[in-house]
Amino acid sequence: MAATTNDSTSGATAATDGGSSDTAAKRYYVTTPIYYVNDRPHLGHAYTTVAGDVLTRWHRQRGEKVWYLTGTDEHGQKIMRTAEANGVRPQEWTDKLVEEAWKPLWRHLDIQNDDFIRTTEKRHTDRVQEFVQDLYDKGEIYQGGYEGPYCVACEEYKTGDQLIDGENGEKLCAVHKRPVEMLKEENYFFKLSEYGPKLLEHYAAHPEFIQPESARNEVLRFVEQGLEDLSISRSTFDWGVRVPWDPAHVIYVWVDALLNYATAVGYGSDQERFESTFPADVHLVGKDILRFHAVIWPAMLMANGLPLPRRVIANGWLMVGGEKMSKSNLTGIAPQDLTEHFGVDAYRWYFLRAIQFGQDGSFSWEDFSARYTSELANDYGNLASRVAAMVGKYFGGALPAATAAGEAEEALAEGLKRAAATADEAIGERLDFAGGISAVFDFIKDVNGYLTEQQPWKVAKDESPEAQARLATILYTAAESLRAAAVLLNPVMPESSAKLWESLGAEAAGLGPIAEQRIGRVAEWGLLPAGATVTKGAVLFPRLEEPKKDEAKG
Ligand code: ME8
Ligand code: MG
Repeated sequence: MAATTNDSTSGATAATDGGSSDTAAKRYYVTTPIYYVNDRPHLGHAYTTVAGDVLTRWHRQRGEKVWYLTGTDEHGQKIMRTAEANGVRPQEWTDKLVEEAWKPLWRHLDIQNDDFIRTTEKRHTDRVQEFVQDLYDKGEIYQGGYEGPYCVACEEYKTGDQLIDGENGEKLCAVHKRPVEMLKEENYFFKLSEYGPKLLEHYAAHPEFIQPESARNEVLRFVEQGLEDLSISRSTFDWGVRVPWDPAHVIYVWVDALLNYATAVGYGSDQERFESTFPADVHLVGKDILRFHAVIWPAMLMANGLPLPRRVIANGWLMVGGEKMSKSNLTGIAPQDLTEHFGVDAYRWYFLRAIQFGQDGSFSWEDFSARYTSELANDYGNLASRVAAMVGKYFGGALPAATAAGEAEEALAEGLKRAAATADEAIGERLDFAGGISAVFDFIKDVNGYLTEQQPWKVAKDESPEAQARLATILYTAAESLRAAAVLLNPVMPESSAKLWESLGAEAAGLGPIAEQRIGRVAEWGLLPAGATVTKGAVLFPRLEEPKKDEAKG
């Protein structure tokens, strides 16, 4: 960008000051981890990817230019061994998994990613070689030797604090609870140790860089102890990107993987695109891979004079039986099992609603069912169908005008303003999805309370013009409230929001498609035009105990 302002009050150098360049042209750039394709996606992967999708849909509805990237991490020993165990070549294995399991799940969950990067793609591997060659030419990489305990599941050399004792005295990886392997290699090292002080300076100047606070503290403690240089090549196997100056080595899978955030947006190939997208505004990661993103990645960027991401945000772990849910430790429940029972929208909603983002949480079938029934089916879905039914019954489906509004209506309009502002700040800025969703559902509760108080079904029995004007006003107010709820919930539950939008006749009445409704205008009262054709559409959240087959009989 031509016109970036250098923040002279911060101690960071221009190269590391990526956060302050929010010119109008810069895209809001969000990434997920690129997942290992040694196996199928599970609830944990879907958790991070749905969170990113909600965040980016929210920003799109703010009217911002957005770029949402996800993808797959396909090199390294872990993938190679899985492929071998299945008797196929690694490329064959990853091709199959990506096409048959990963991409279809994201489509199924309505993930609107703008790109999907695979680390085996040439657009990535060529640029990885160039990046590493640059560091080599700059003297950031040297040849050396290393011996230490290695966890293949993490693809990481472990330090003492990352190990626990196994039953027979052997050392286990604290994350995977599996034995580590002693690895000894002659290879290439990145001078990571030199970046400790610069990283600490950056963390201090940008307190928002690592979130939540617990994650930030963990990284600070780790870096304050002093960093070791990082082994960035492997010569004992060959499933990876070749080190350009020494093809007997492949580049360490994490260096390869982290670079996806740059290569996917034009690094080294499309400067204009790169500058209008990079660096990321938010790298979403799980706690397990925080150090890679908050220590190694920024050091790599500093070493090559590239700007640092604005924030690295760690989600907590979905737990099962008190342990992090992982491939070897599954609930036995695939994302599709849950969407089949609850629907895709409810699935997207549940984990963000029930677990405070950043903290660990457990999935429970009972909790999901209870919340579904009380919040989605009763509070929200019923409200939508009752309002549509009454507009149909009393006004032949033509939304009447609110000609007799008073204090109760004003209070709702004020409540909407508060809900929208709270949700925008919570979801759009702090990634407090639970807080933002609650704010909208509190508003929905208020609308229900309003109808209970106003009793439109009683008012309807009085045929006087005053009563009829009140009836019209009450139903307009409820429908207008639903208009706003549909807009605010669209990033979380796009399918039901579209249904509600359709049922309110909003698009046909001139408001345009739901995805184009702006968060910034959602609380402007009265946007839904009187005269809109309201129809009793599909039930938004069918009762769980009603088997689907019975509906067809009706
Ligand atoms: O680490 N709870 O890939 P991965 C919450 N390829 N989130 C979970 C989770 C759980 N139980 N399990 C997984 C890798 N996740 C590397 C990343 S990035 C340059 C390379 C999510 O397949 C969470 O986001 O092991 C976690 O960080 C990620 O999946 C790890 O996926
Ligand atoms: Mg993992």
